[in-house]
Amino acid sequence: MNQRMHLLSSLLMGVYLLLPLHTVLGHGHDHPVPLVPRTWEGKSYGCKCYFGDDCWPAPKKWKELNATVGGNLVVFVPPESACHNFFNGTLGTIPTYDAAKCANVTANYPREQWVNEQDATLLWKYFTNSSCVPTTDPSSPCTPGYYGTYVIRTSKKEHIKAGVDFARKNNLRLIIRNTGHDFIGRSTGWGALVINTHRFQDVKFIKKWKGGPKGYTGSAVTVGAGAQGRALLRQAVAQNPPVTVITGECPTVGIAGGFVQGGGHGPLTTIFGLAADHALSFDVITANGKLVTADEKTNSDLFWALKGGGPGTYGVVLSASFKTFAERPSAGATMYINSTLTTNITLFWEGVRIFHSHANYFVDRGLYVYFTVAPGSLRVRPFVAFNQTSVQLEEILEPLKADLTAAGIPFYSGPTLQYASFFDLYLDLFEDESGGPPMLTSGWMFGREDIDNNNDGIIEAMKTAISPREDLIDKGYMVGHLFGAGHNPQPAGISATNPRFRTASDLLLYLVPLPTDATLVQKADLQNVLANTIDRAMRDAAPNGLAYINEADPFQDNWQDHFWGPTVYPKLRQIKKTWDPEGVFYAISMPGTEEWEVIEHGTRLCKKF
Ligand SMILES: Cc1cc2nc3c(=O)[nH]c(=O)nc-3n(C[C@H](O)[C@H](O)[C@H](O)COP(=O)(O)OP(=O)(O)OC[C@H]3O[C@@H](n4cnc5c(N)ncnc54)[C@H](O)[C@@H]3O)c2cc1C
Ligand SMILES: *[C@@H]1O[C@H](CO)[C@@H](O)[C@H](O)[C@H]1NC(C)=O
Ligand SMILES: *[C@@H]1O[C@H](CO)[C@@H](O)[C@H](O)[C@H]1NC(C)=O
Ligand SMILES: *[C@@H]1O[C@H](CO)[C@@H](O)[C@H](O)[C@H]1NC(C)=O
Ligand SMILES: *[C@@H]1O[C@H](CO)[C@@H](O)[C@H](O)[C@H]1NC(C)=O
Ligand SMILES: *[C@@H]1O[C@H](CO)[C@@H](O)[C@H](O)[C@H]1NC(C)=O
Ligand SMILES: *[C@@H]1O[C@H](CO)[C@@H](O)[C@H](O)[C@H]1NC(C)=O
Ligand SMILES: *[C@@H]1O[C@H](CO)[C@@H](O)[C@H](O)[C@H]1NC(C)=O
Repeated sequence: MNQRMHLLSSLLMGVYLLLPLHTVLGHGHDHPVPLVPRTWEGKSYGCKCYFGDDCWPAPKKWKELNATVGGNLVVFVPPESACHNFFNGTLGTIPTYDAAKCANVTANYPREQWVNEQDATLLWKYFTNSSCVPTTDPSSPCTPGYYGTYVIRTSKKEHIKAGVDFARKNNLRLIIRNTGHDFIGRSTGWGALVINTHRFQDVKFIKKWKGGPKGYTGSAVTVGAGAQGRALLRQAVAQNPPVTVITGECPTVGIAGGFVQGGGHGPLTTIFGLAADHALSFDVITANGKLVTADEKTNSDLFWALKGGGPGTYGVVLSASFKTFAERPSAGATMYINSTLTTNITLFWEGVRIFHSHANYFVDRGLYVYFTVAPGSLRVRPFVAFNQTSVQLEEILEPLKADLTAAGIPFYSGPTLQYASFFDLYLDLFEDESGGPPMLTSGWMFGREDIDNNNDGIIEAMKTAISPREDLIDKGYMVGHLFGAGHNPQPAGISATNPRFRTASDLLLYLVPLPTDATLVQKADLQNVLANTIDRAMRDAAPNGLAYINEADPFQDNWQDHFWGPTVYPKLRQIKKTWDPEGVFYAISMPGTEEWEVIEHGTRLCKKF
């Protein structure tokens, strides 16, 4: 920053501090605690209020909040602390060692459902800062890292309202945490007040939806914010007649939280579209603490924004309603190429190239395909053919097998399996996933055109993701999803998702692991590799692609365009301004966050001056 700008901002800061609050904040009548002035790397900011600041609520105020939320306010103590002598938290040091609990936590640590049920921990550890991990050395430090300070275990709308009001009035960083699946840390925040919505588990099926968009009168389901994919599908298939819902491939991702607010793709997306396309209504506590319903008739701008316009940005969702679809018999299959079959890496990549060259064709035939690529290993599990027979699926897979055979690629192809319902297939072929070591995650969805014209270039980019640099040979890992959100056309603008979804067919995630005790320098270096080597290679290979909000690098340049595109983004930014003018809600790289920044190494959330 040059001298003059610096002077100017100091001056503005002075003015800010001298003027009566309402003058500075304009319409911010109900915002008694002002932003806290700070300087970081020569720039001036106004920050949220944190422990140690004069504005941090006194114990009495927290006690009042606790009473309002029925005693469900807790100081966050990481479960991992059971393996450490002390938890040195923001509010003080407490002794925590408990051998039995430590053993329990260590055993459960990678299990998805266990993580989901905790107050605030995350499945993907990178954005926790790994500052308290299971260990056999109790003397090692356990500090909060990027976790919040307090959690409200909400189970009533009044609890959520109380949390939102408290955060707004006291200028606190507010985090909404549901299952903790978020790849990019949006369900955690240093020093924050966390609203945990996972206890909202009610699910209600409705035969005839009333008052829906464009007069929809078909079957529907209303799900609480905390309900998760497989549990919902299990209840859906038990209806008479059996129905199904668009969920993620992952059994434990929520539905009404980050999933639909990011768009939501899953095994049924090729047939029906994105989850966001089929939302009918949301009940939401907004930034001003009001409970509103958002549907096509009421608060329609908010309704649209909640359908893919960005998680944790417009309000706290209590429940959401979705169309349901008739359950159908389905077929599935698997295929592998790995080192048991060939260790010839040239042959291996030729196999991947041939597999991937069929991506558009598979989608055109109504398939969804989930696959992983690790060094020397392609694992396709499963191919999903909803409402098709095993005979039909066999026929669809024939050209792929013929091409692999003709090229002399050894591959293992499992039997094509017939299932009485899609849910049976889901239980049999989709696997539980697990939390693992810290990893950087990004992703890119390839346009159909890119696959048609430049599949070879895409494969080269995949090689880059597996081995991004000389010292990172065979360190990468990828997860691919072939689906076509535009295979069966959806009305234009039905959801606030990127229009490019409709002409794309492979969403590829790529992960770069890093050591649990990585230094800031190592983290910055690998982040640079992710953004400037791997992401760049993907984008160069597939310029017609897009980034999926829930599965992409949050630090990327031009995220507005990659996530939403130039027609959708400006509308979302306006809706954010309407519903949350003061920035009660914040999640990185979501609409309207341009003026906010997390400074001081991932800790304080501040507004730029
Ligand atoms: C193993 C794995 C598999 C996945 N598979 C898929 C997939 O198949 N398809 C897909 O589309 N995505 C998938 N995802 C990504 C997933 O959609 C996102 O991680 C999503 O953000 C999870 O939402 P959540 O509410 O369950 O998790 P959380 O981490 O608790 O929350 C995620 C975000 O949503 C916000 N949020 C949560 N609850 C609410 C609420 N009640 N109101 C407002 N905001 C809220 C949070 O503040 C945060 O910003 C997968 C992720 C993982 C880790
Ligand atoms: C909130 O109240 C409950 C019940 O009285 C108590 O157990 C809990 O410790 C309180 N939380 C805080 C942060 O004091
Ligand atoms: C671990 O703890 C949970 C809850 O605290 C308990 O339900 C479970 O039985 C424990 N498991 C083991 C193996 O001790
Ligand atoms: C945590 O607190 C304990 C007890 O006061 C102290 O011995 C230890 O050094 C502290 N650790 C850290 C990492 O601050
Ligand atoms: C986060 O981790 C880094 C090491 O990568 C460390 O230097 C920093 O102090 C940690 N920050 C917090 C808030 O724990
Ligand atoms: C390769 O895939 C087959 C089929 O699933 C499996 O049995 C085998 O263990 C795999 N080999 C390796 C090295 O992973
Ligand atoms: C690997 O396969 C390629 C293509 O068939 C072949 O040209 C090459 O010689 C093989 N390499 C080894 C080491 O066998
Ligand atoms: C299933 O396929 C049949 C034709 O094969 C079609 O008539 C029907 O609408 C499909 N059902 C669903 C739910 O997609």
